[in-house]
Parts: sequence; C-alpha cells; structure tokens
Amino acid sequence: MNALLVSLSYHHHNTKQVADVIARVIGAEVRAPQEISPGEVSDYDLLGMGSGIYSGRHHQTLLDLAGALPPVTSRRAFLFSTSSAVMVGDADSRRFQDYVGEINAPLREKLVSKGYTIIGEFSCPGFNTNSFIRHFGGLNKGRPNAEDLARAEGFARKVLAGSTR
Ligand SMILES: Cc1cc2nc3c(=O)[nH]c(=O)nc-3n(C[C@H](O)[C@H](O)[C@H](O)COP(=O)(O)O)c2cc1C
Repeated sequence: MNALLVSLSYHHHNTKQVADVIARVIGAEVRAPQEISPGEVSDYDLLGMGSGIYSGRHHQTLLDLAGALPPVTSRRAFLFSTSSAVMVGDADSRRFQDYVGEINAPLREKLVSKGYTIIGEFSCPGFNTNSFIRHFGGLNKGRPNAEDLARAEGFARKVLAGSTR
C-alpha cells in the first residue's frame, strides 16, 4: 500500500510521537504539510493527516492543504490529533468520541468534500503548556504515554486492515 502521513507537530512534538507509531505500522512516510504540493497527494492510495489541536481545530497548514487538494475518487483517508482533551472521559467513552468528532470536523469536512472516504479517526491527550496553563505546570504531563501510543498502534493496525469503524 502506498501511504502518506502529513503531520504538523510543534508545541511539544506530541503528535509527532503518534505519527511515528502509525507510520511505522503502516509503512508510510511522514511529511510536513509545507513540504507537499497538493497535486502529489493523489498519487497515494491512503492519506493520514494529523496535528495538535490549536484553537479548536487542526493546524491551519493542514486545513489549507486539504482545501487545496484536487478532487479524488476511491481514495481513503484517516485523521489523528493530540489535544488538551481534559474532562472528556476515557478513550472508549461516548463523550470522548463525541469530542474527537467535533475537533476533527473542520479537517474531516474538507477531505470528504474532495471525495476522500474517512476510514478512521484517532486522538489522545497531549502535554499542553499553552498560555496561562504553563504557570500551573501544564496539562496532561507525560502524554502521550505508553498506553496512548499502544492505542495509536492498535488504530494503525486497523487502518492497515482497511477500516477502524
Ligand atoms: C496555541 C495553542 C492552542 C491550543 N488550543 C487548544 C484547543 O483549542 N483545544 C485543545 O484541546 N487543546 C489545545 N491546545 C493544546 C494542544 O492541542 C496540545 O498540547 C497538543 O498535544 C499539541 O500538539 P503538538 O505537540 O503535536 O504540537 C493548544 C495548544 C497551543 C500551543
């Protein structure tokens, strides 16, 4: 399978840890959105896009790239993210899944509008020291942790199998 992971991770490289695990399992290369021209993305059978969540959505460079992609048919994509994700329950809870659905929506909608079928969405907490939070030691210290990365690996195995749903 010819797979591409596009990932942007700058705050604490939290999402990079997730991207690296997924890339290893599915045998994909990881590239930054700024390194990619929209036209080359449709050369790949499978596209993964992920970043931290900043002001409620994926990084603008990912949204811009998704918006500039040429329309496709028969192409699959998946999303991933790390975020503050506090007070939303554990990973299997309906509340967490609803939260992930919401934060991934802007990027998902752009990809769907281009013709991509979304086969899965992964998210986990990431260490956050944005703004005043740093004065209190940050949120989600140590995340992603080994359990989060094991979940990311399980997600990637399902992606390899065709769908996580
Ligand atoms: C400028 C900024 C804005 C953020 N906004 C949000 C947000 O709206 N919701 C949220 O859950 N987390 C937010 N966070 C926390 C990040 O999503 C979290 O730390 C993430 O793991 C960062 O990923 P990275 O290390 O891959 O960049 C924000 C962090 C930064 C730096």
